[in-house]
Order: sequence, then C-alpha cells, then structure tokens
Amino acid sequence: MKLLSAPKGWSQILMTPPTTPWSALRAALAAGGASTAQTLIEAGLRGRGGGGFLTGEKWRTTASSEADRRYAVANAYESDPAVFANRLLLEKNALGVVEGLAIAALSVGAREALIGIRAEYSDAIRALEAVIASAERDGILGASVLGSGRELLIRVVPLQGSSMIGEETVLLKALAGKRGQPEQTPPYPSTVGYLGKPTAVNNVATLAAVPWILAHGAAAFKQIGDPTEPGTVLVQVGGAVANAGVLEVPTGTPLAEIVAVAGGSAKGTAIKALLVGGSSGGFIPAQLLASTPYSGAGLAAVGAHIGSGALLALDGSVSIPELAAMLTRWCADEACGKTIPCRIGTRRLAEIGQRFVDGLAGPADGERLQALAADVADSALCAHERLTPSPLLTGMRYFKQEFYPTSVAQSSGAVAGRSK
Ligand SMILES: Cc1cc2nc3c(=O)[nH]c(=O)nc-3n(C[C@H](O)[C@H](O)[C@H](O)COP(=O)(O)O)c2cc1C
Ligand code: SF4
Repeated sequence: MKLLSAPKGWSQILMTPPTTPWSALRAALAAGGASTAQTLIEAGLRGRGGGGFLTGEKWRTTASSEADRRYAVANAYESDPAVFANRLLLEKNALGVVEGLAIAALSVGAREALIGIRAEYSDAIRALEAVIASAERDGILGASVLGSGRELLIRVVPLQGSSMIGEETVLLKALAGKRGQPEQTPPYPSTVGYLGKPTAVNNVATLAAVPWILAHGAAAFKQIGDPTEPGTVLVQVGGAVANAGVLEVPTGTPLAEIVAVAGGSAKGTAIKALLVGGSSGGFIPAQLLASTPYSGAGLAAVGAHIGSGALLALDGSVSIPELAAMLTRWCADEACGKTIPCRIGTRRLAEIGQRFVDGLAGPADGERLQALAADVADSALCAHERLTPSPLLTGMRYFKQEFYPTSVAQSSGAVAGRSK
C-alpha cells in the first residue's frame, strides 16, 4: 500500500516530518499546557480516530482532572481490517507522532506516555523506537525534557487481539494487561483512563498534526480544508480505482475529487458507489459523490462517517446486499459480547441481511431491519454497536432495487426476491 502523490495545493502536514524537529516541543514547554491546549482549540483540531472530538478540549479536561498521575496514550492500533493509513504514517513520520505525543504528555502533566500499536507493525515499531532512543540519548526526552527538569518516558507497547482494541477504553485495558471490553462512557478516559488515572488518548494522525500547528500557528491550520473541521486527514482509497493507496486530503474535499486523484475507475467501468468509513461505513451512491464533502458533517448528512478513513470504490460487479450482509456479519463476530442488545441484535441484523442476499426476504424484513437497526443503535454501549447497522441501512436507502430485485413487489405486500 503506497502513499499517493497529492495534487499541487494540497497541504501535506501529517505525512511530512517536522522541518525543525523538537522546536514545537520546546515552544509547548515554554507556553505551558493550558496555552498549548488553547492553541489547539483555536486551530479547531479534531481527533482523526473517528470520534472527531476537539483535541485541545480533551487535553484541558485531562490536565484539570484531580489525580496524582496522568498519562498520554497514542492510539496506533488501527483496528479496521485491511486499513494501513496509520501504519504508513508511522513509517513515514514517526518523529511527528512522537513529538506530538510528547507535547500531549507535557501539556496534560504526564510523566509517562504509551503508544499502543499492532504487534505486526514491525517497521513502524522500529521507527518509533529509533526516534525515542535517539531523543533520550540527546536529552530531548527522558529524565529532563530539553533540560526543563520535567521527566517524560515514552513506551511503545505492541498489542494483539480483536478489532475492539482500537476503541479507546479497550486500548487502555489492553495496555494494562486486562481483558479487552469497552467501558460505558462517561466517565471518559480524560478523567478515568489508564490505570484509572486521567489520560489523553489520541489517534496518531491527530498527534502528527500538533507540531505543525505549534510551528505555523492556529490561524494557518484553520485555513486548510473545511473551516469548521480544518486540516488534513488520511484517506485510504481502494477497490475499483486505478491507483489504490493512502492520500492526505484537505477536509471538505468532495468525494468525487478524491476518486479522481486516485485515478478514477480502474477498468473504465462506472463507479456505482463508495463505501466510506470502513467495515461499519456507509454506502454513498455515485450521484452524491460530487456534492458530498469528505468531512464529519458532510458524511453524516448522507448516512456515512469518517470511521477508519477507508474509502472503497465499488463498480457494477459488486452486490451491495452481499457486501452489506458480509460486513454486518463481521461486525457481529467482532462484537465483544459484553452487552446483550449488541450480542444478539447485531447477529439478528446479519441474518436479515443474509435473507436479502438469499432472495428470501419479504417487505416485512425491510421494516424489521429499520426497527432493529434503531434499537441496536439506541442501546449501544459503545460505537461499535451504534455503527454496525450503517452498511445495511445505507445500502437499503440508496440501493433498494438490489435488495428487492424483482421490481418492488413489496408495495403489493407480496414476498419479493429471487426464488431459490
Ligand atoms: C470499535 C472501535 C474501533 C476503533 N478503532 C480505532 C483505531 O483503530 N484507532 C483510533 O485511533 N481510534 C479508534 N477508535 C476511536 C477511539 O475509541 C478514540 O475515539 C480515538 O482513539 C481518540 O483519538 P482522537 O481523539 O485523536 O481521534 C475506535 C472506536 C471504536 C468504537
Ligand atoms: S456494544 Fe457490542 S462491542 Fe460494544 S461493549 Fe457492548 S457487546 Fe461489546
């Protein structure tokens, strides 16, 4: 999986190592944690891990939560299958991520920071460890950060397990060697996190943006992309495009433009939809690609979300019901089993999806799907359950004719579908 070259004019903040390494850390030390968090709030930096929370707010809450110890954690688990954007980022800009994490740690008052990373990301682990070791040798990190007298130890912790480890409360448990199941939030990790202490958890792409913001200023960052969710994001484009790979894209870029930069359709056949957001993402039909901006709000308006940053182009050879049912089954299999509505509800959703694939579904199944999806989303303990219905719901919304191929007999109340 390669980094695609971006068109002229697209800022490349995340994938480019800081030009003056550690100067942002020095500036953050001088400014103090409250001022650094305020700069990030003014810049409008939102988390790149899917939730889109304001990073500066998170750091402010962590710093102001009463405790004898605080932590900063980088989420480098990258849990969605076949997504590599964070791995590529770590291999290309480990320095920016470590500097961002060091700034996070000092800003929230932590003396220890951890990087929870997939154990199989061996090149990325080596790159991170090399940056940390060299910074400790040079007195940049360690017992006295840049001679300030403040201690900071950063540890890289390889992890293995289910996709749920990417969820922050599970990540924190995995780092502590505990069984990985999500916790009800609130309280958020910023008040009760690693080992029960206030913890700032950030995705690695979020952290990579921090040195750039401190070096260039909040106003410069706000000028990139959509001003309400500014900056750049990593998008992994795959499927039926000519050039699959990772792109660093200004927020708000129309989906059609992203597909065009990835070379358009591979075989010259029309792209009928994008699956945006990974395994629990939403299908967006071709006719909406030009008008849908790649941003949290833009995607939410059409039923999708940024999620893992994966964008899968689908041509006419792909059956939307089959793909939606397969993804729902995968999400049901990955559910940790802690809460019954998710454990049972996601499985029932997958079964309904399969009935459509097998041509056994009737009109009532469409209604059942909507009602169950609403129940599943409402009862969710964590976002895994809340997002699991997205492929089936958006598939049904935009590609109903594929779910009911025998020209919508549902209006007459008859059972629709292929006979087996
Ligand atoms: C099922 C599930 C999987 C997730 N996987 C990841 C992941 O692989 N990497 C990540 O950074 N965030 C992931 N998240 C989001 C994290 O819980 C959390 O919001 C994020 O790490 C916070 O960092 P940010 O504010 O910088 O985005 C996942 C969330 C859920 C519900
Ligand atoms: S909602 Fe699903 S994945 Fe989340 S904690 Fe409950 S069972 Fe686990």
